[in-house]
Amino acid sequence: MADIRVRAASPRDAERIAAVYAPHVEASYASFEEVAPDAREMAARMAAAPLLPWLVAEDAEERVLGFAYAAHHRVRRAYRWACDVSVYLDAGATGRGIGTALYAELLPTVERLGYVQCFAGIALPNDASVALHRAHGFAQFGVYRDVGFKLGAWRSVAWFQRTLADPPSDPAEPKGWAPDGG
Ligand SMILES: CC(C)(COP(=O)(O)OP(=O)(O)OC[C@H]1O[C@@H](n2cnc3c(N)ncnc32)[C@H](O)[C@@H]1OP(=O)(O)O)[C@@H](O)C(=O)NCCC(=O)NCCS
Repeated sequence: MADIRVRAASPRDAERIAAVYAPHVEASYASFEEVAPDAREMAARMAAAPLLPWLVAEDAEERVLGFAYAAHHRVRRAYRWACDVSVYLDAGATGRGIGTALYAELLPTVERLGYVQCFAGIALPNDASVALHRAHGFAQFGVYRDVGFKLGAWRSVAWFQRTLADPPSDPAEPKGWAPDGG
């Protein structure tokens, strides 16, 4: 992976991130969104409080080939040590270890911020995503059967969990992400 660099995403990446994501919305059930967010909407998501990491992978020509990010698992307060993670690549960039490189940076980052549990929902089938998550220590704990209808069919979502840290008895508040080193 010498030619791939993973770095913190900045607002300048929003347009390219939106472009990478759009085909997964418009032509795949990997995302359950139906309208691809534009760059402005993507920038708003990236800046939503509390800040969680957004990372991009770029090639030697600084072309962004994929991104990964974390989001709060659920909004109710007691869930605040739990995050969801997601990763999307350009169609031509899959199967080369880029998803692995993004997660190798994303997961330690959310752990450092104080998150304790990490979740991923994977619309089935998706062998590559299942393999990626298992390779990073996620284990499947359930399936939402026929929970979404997209591209003419009902879709099931497998849920995976990885415990990032032994759940502390007196947890400190998770820190906000600082793109320049948080
Ligand atoms: C899912 C995705 C992010 C994986 O990233 P990737 O860069 O292609 O995966 P990597 O090359 O890093 O491989 C990760 C693991 O998956 C395995 N893998 C990759 N492609 C695979 C495939 N098509 N079928 C089965 N296993 C596959 C690799 O062997 C590797 O496993 P290992 O570490 O045990 O050897 C990427 O394929 C993608 O963007 N897919 C479309 C969008 C998507 O589904 N996103 C996830 C939404 S939940």
